[in-house]
Amino acid sequence: STQIPYATLILRWYDHHQRILPWRAKTGTIPDPYHVLLSEIMLQQTQVATVIPYFNKFIENFPTLNDLAEASLEKVMAMWTGLGYYSRARNLHRCAQEVVKIGGIIPSNFKELKDLPGIGDYTAAAILSIGYNQPFVAVDGNVERVTSRLFAIEDSLPKVKPQLAALAKTLNEGQEAQDRPGDFAQALFDIGATICKPKNPLCLICPLSSVCKAHQQNIAELLPKREKK
Ligand code: ADE
Repeated sequence: STQIPYATLILRWYDHHQRILPWRAKTGTIPDPYHVLLSEIMLQQTQVATVIPYFNKFIENFPTLNDLAEASLEKVMAMWTGLGYYSRARNLHRCAQEVVKIGGIIPSNFKELKDLPGIGDYTAAAILSIGYNQPFVAVDGNVERVTSRLFAIEDSLPKVKPQLAALAKTLNEGQEAQDRPGDFAQALFDIGATICKPKNPLCLICPLSSVCKAHQQNIAELLPKREKK
């Protein structure tokens, strides 16, 4: 029998079960790269539920990237209070100022994005896929977990990171994922966070269970393995 592409299963699920989050474009509208950049910086080390009120407060106080760039660092830091990892806020402020300097448009290519303060491989890929609909796959802990289970990769993190990233990139093969890179990226985050959870994964309702090697072997919860320190 012909295997339904992973991306088809993932996007069909997303169309019905995606989380409604304030930085996501409403159906039929295009995303605002500033909202994507701001949310992805906040989400780097912080859970979705914690980020939501901070994201809303930032957008209220700094509706555009230009507003953020022109704000004082003191005001930005004060609004970040409680979110932690404060270098993110300093970098975000500098990042906004540098984008304004180069014309006010958040870059739409990997190299220019990575040259900005606070933007690494993950955040650049997230901005390109979600903000600009380019077929990049942003690999975070959620995506590593989904991928390690889908392919039953038993090698340990962190050594296996590059292999998981390479496998994650193969998931978006197929026309549907190529047509909807932003939805595809966020679908993986949602599946990782709400179904393919670290403990007690909900394989019974997972759109990938029929093709998940770890589920077939009953080892989903054991993956990914982590090198003991
Ligand atoms: N984690 C990181 N980025 C995310 C996003 N855009 N949506 C949900 N969870 C995320």
